[in-house]
Amino acid sequence: MTVDRRTFLRSGLLAGSAASLTRTLPASRRDDAPSIRAIQRRRIPKTGELLPVIGLGTSRTLNVDPSGDHPALREVLQGFLDWGGTCVDSSPMYGNSESVVGALLGQLGRQDLFYATKVWTDKGKQAGIDQMEQSRQRMGPERFDLMQVHNLVGLEEHMPTLEQMKAEGRIRYLGVTEMRDWETVEKLIVSDKLDFVQIPYSLGERAVEARILPAARDHGVATLIMRPFVRGQLFQAVKGKELPGWAAEIDCTSWAQVFLKWLLGHPAVTCPIPATSKPHHLHDNMQGGVGAVPDTALRARILEEVVG
Ligand SMILES: NC(=O)c1ccc[n+]([C@@H]2O[C@H](COP(=O)([O-])OP(=O)(O)OC[C@H]3O[C@@H](n4cnc5c(N)ncnc54)[C@H](OP(=O)(O)O)[C@@H]3O)[C@@H](O)[C@H]2O)c1
Repeated sequence: MTVDRRTFLRSGLLAGSAASLTRTLPASRRDDAPSIRAIQRRRIPKTGELLPVIGLGTSRTLNVDPSGDHPALREVLQGFLDWGGTCVDSSPMYGNSESVVGALLGQLGRQDLFYATKVWTDKGKQAGIDQMEQSRQRMGPERFDLMQVHNLVGLEEHMPTLEQMKAEGRIRYLGVTEMRDWETVEKLIVSDKLDFVQIPYSLGERAVEARILPAARDHGVATLIMRPFVRGQLFQAVKGKELPGWAAEIDCTSWAQVFLKWLLGHPAVTCPIPATSKPHHLHDNMQGGVGAVPDTALRARILEEVVG
């Protein structure tokens, strides 16, 4: 089987010309890795805006003292931006993470993110409004690009607020995150109220494959993919296992890249958001957004070889 038959540039197909998706960063941006290439981008269906295909999660990894010095975390964020990453996902549920994103961006003198966070309170509408303003002050954007109802908590109260904020230009996109209640998520997708849905999907967690991903694709809802490594547990499944020959055919040099490329091989996936506290893992993950992605046949083979 040849590379051409087995692989395809899904992002290129979705986003237009492949040539427009990959660019070489100026050498001045990274002394230690002058040849890294920027990652690919996919369209957000509701607007056509291009979003880099690998984002950055912040749960646990950035829950540190915001007033402390965290050179490794600063390097993670710097590396993410150098690769052309933009989508950083946080939540008031993640302790200090929103504040740490804001502090690190201040140290780097950058603000060019796709800022995504969540509203997470069951204390009613005003509590949600207050919390979102607190998140804005912590992370630092003038307005959030994406605001999500975290795990559907207070959905009835917060959804009208998000719709109003979007209509007034105070957020750009709205969405929900959820890990279990697929019936409600599907109803929301089909109601055409959502711009984004954030869901767990990986070689180890495939509950969204049957209905949620097809519904998102059919209704033009962008997907942020949480837990792409099942919190790191996926690496246990391949411990001590050599990277198979086909990995090179999809430009992968690590299992992390295989896991991310497997996700990007699904047409309804917009942007997996792996979290890491380590610069070398960040570079590994961002490399997963460059080059070919597996077609259906290779995705099935990867699934078989990794989880059996
Ligand atoms: N309900 C919700 O809304 C919800 C729920 C869960 C997650 N999320 C979002 O999704 C994001 C991602 O999910 P997650 O953080 O739970 O799990 P994850 O991204 O699947 O896994 C993170 C773990 O993988 C490790 N890791 C990262 N890159 C690696 C690499 N290249 N090689 C080896 N290990 C690597 C990290 O450790 P190191 O630090 O050592 O790299 C970390 O322990 C969250 O941060 C959050 O933003 C949302």
